[in-house]
Amino acid sequence: MAVIALCSAQGSPGVTTTALGLAFVWPRHVLVVDADPTGSSAVMAGWLRGRVAQTAGLIDLAFTTGSLPDMIEAQTMALGSVGRVGFLPGPQSNAQALACRDLWSPLRAALADQDARGRDVIIDAGQLGIPGSPQPLLDGADLTLLVTRTHLPAVAGARAWAETVRREAPWRNPGLLLVGPGQPYTARNMGKVLGLPVIATVADDLATAAVYHRGEQPPRYSGWRWPRRRFETSHLVRSLRSAATAISTHLNRAPATTSSATTVRAASQEVNS
Ligand SMILES: Nc1ncnc2c1ncn2[C@@H]1O[C@H](COP(=O)(O)OP(=O)(O)OP(=O)(O)O)[C@@H](O)[C@H]1O
Ligand SMILES: [Mg+2]
Repeated sequence: MAVIALCSAQGSPGVTTTALGLAFVWPRHVLVVDADPTGSSAVMAGWLRGRVAQTAGLIDLAFTTGSLPDMIEAQTMALGSVGRVGFLPGPQSNAQALACRDLWSPLRAALADQDARGRDVIIDAGQLGIPGSPQPLLDGADLTLLVTRTHLPAVAGARAWAETVRREAPWRNPGLLLVGPGQPYTARNMGKVLGLPVIATVADDLATAAVYHRGEQPPRYSGWRWPRRRFETSHLVRSLRSAATAISTHLNRAPATTSSATTVRAASQEVNS
């Protein structure tokens, strides 16, 4: 059981889409936490298509005097029909995110306790460096993944953050999650240039991503020359399944602190070579 945080360096590479997509293929019960400090409420507007009024969220947790685990339970809504994915709505503005400053550390501890409720946690921490960024959640997660595309502007944007992560080691167990590997840089290139281990990749598949990103109907692939493919066998969903397996395997293999230090050190040595 684990807490996994996803964030980006710049340019909307697909953090929210990937967090949600991973949750729906996750092998266990999972709680998705929107901790994006921009307050964009991307899941409410996207997957839920603005049809559900946000009546709860992290801001309520910030001002509660009651038990945080109980409040998390009370504020969590179910996503999807199977009931395995819970969603904790985030701040609705940057001002709310700033008001959550004193919440992040106790929330980190409470999220670690989700384990006892049989749930893993996937945190959408949004873009790094924004005021109100949930730093304690990023630092304390069992795995913190910098999500990035693999083109040159994305590499340029991620490079400084990757260097900070390597040099200052704020995250217990850092890694990369690539969206669209090989466009043009491969996972190997990216790991070498950024000096962090590539833990997982997901396919660049705009049509399927739109299902998670803005609640579109799943695309139908039914041309006369092509076998009909369903949403479940799309490039994106298959890659999300592989990514979920890769993340679980990495977490099972790696008790966070020592192994991550070793992999980051190894990757750093490659960068310097
Ligand atoms: N795997 C993917 N393949 C193709 N397009 C994708 C993929 N993931 C996300 N996208 C698209 O990228 C855009 C941004 O996605 P998303 O909102 O998830 O990014 P983000 O990193 O959370 O952005 P922000 O920093 O603004 O919150 C959307 O148009 C979405 O459909
Ligand atoms: Mg987002």
